[in-house]
Amino acid sequence: MPEAVLQRAAEEMLDWHGSGMGVMEMSHRGKEFGVIATAAEADLRALLAVPSDFHILFMQGGGLGENAIVPLNLSRGTEADFVITGSWSIKSQKEAQRYCRANVVATNAPGHDALPDPAGWKLSDSASYVHLCSNETINGVEFQQLPDLAALGSKAPLVIDFSSHVASRPVDWSKVGLAFGGAQKNLGPAGLTIVIVRDDLLGRALEVCPSAFNYKTVADNQSMYNTPPTWGIYIAGLTFQWLRQQTEGALSGVEAMEARNIAKAKLLYDFIDGSGFYDNKVDPSCRSRMNVPFFLRDEGRNEAFLAGARAAGLLQLKGHKSVGGMRASIYNAMPLAGVQALVGYMREFERSHA
Ligand SMILES: Cc1ncc(COP(=O)(O)O)c(C=O)c1O
Repeated sequence: MPEAVLQRAAEEMLDWHGSGMGVMEMSHRGKEFGVIATAAEADLRALLAVPSDFHILFMQGGGLGENAIVPLNLSRGTEADFVITGSWSIKSQKEAQRYCRANVVATNAPGHDALPDPAGWKLSDSASYVHLCSNETINGVEFQQLPDLAALGSKAPLVIDFSSHVASRPVDWSKVGLAFGGAQKNLGPAGLTIVIVRDDLLGRALEVCPSAFNYKTVADNQSMYNTPPTWGIYIAGLTFQWLRQQTEGALSGVEAMEARNIAKAKLLYDFIDGSGFYDNKVDPSCRSRMNVPFFLRDEGRNEAFLAGARAAGLLQLKGHKSVGGMRASIYNAMPLAGVQALVGYMREFERSHA
């Protein structure tokens, strides 16, 4: 989280803008929270340049919830295509099987360390949507460009799970029908899920879809059909404002974040590639700017590496249990100085242990 956002939230914790209430004490239907929610939506729309024919929904259920909510809303119980690029898209495809035929149209298994070339995807003529995970958090694989499904001969809308790189780079909405993501990586606290959906995809839900998860119902009620995660919306709203204010040379907002994220990722990957001590196995064409999995070539040194990192204030570096090794998650709020500190530690560890 950006420190400025946490500080502002702390200042406003007991009394939001002289209302005599903290945000957690507000009715979601009161005028104060209405101001917060409206501003959050407008700021997100401006930040990500979301076109006017898309709805922004504030929901609950997280990324895994959306793995069911998307097919409940879009599949019509028929079929959908899945591009498998790592742990999260595997989970999405498995969950969707409960609601429709979930075709695997491409996969980068077993290594999950490169992206399957879109020209080779076996897209189905009658898929209700095509799903991909645009940043695989665990495997460290990111789409640097979204595929143009129309150019690949598919009429289906593209669904992207952008949970772990939302707001780290612009989104090309001309290629996307629906994007979803949990807020907890780049936007705010856990509990808020962002869904951005093109209007023509509303109103297709299966009869069994819970009303609170029916995109049309949520859209028709401005995300207040049920009580939304008000605290999450408030903090995400502050984060959207913070993101909009960021500049990098002539760039601002999400373009500024992208420039910063490119610089952060380059520093870390260049160091890893230049060292004989550490290793990153992902193809350079699709390395994630947010999640950098890396390995010590001598795995016997893992515990010492992690203990030294902790002592140096470098936290949460242990890799996901399914992959092992290390993972540096360098989300938006991580400043370049944080990555410099990590590289400095890695260099010193290598010097003293090689
Ligand atoms: C890309 C991606 N999708 C889905 C999820 C699952 O999200 P949640 O825990 O909010 O259900 C995660 C969580 O890390 C993720 O990184």
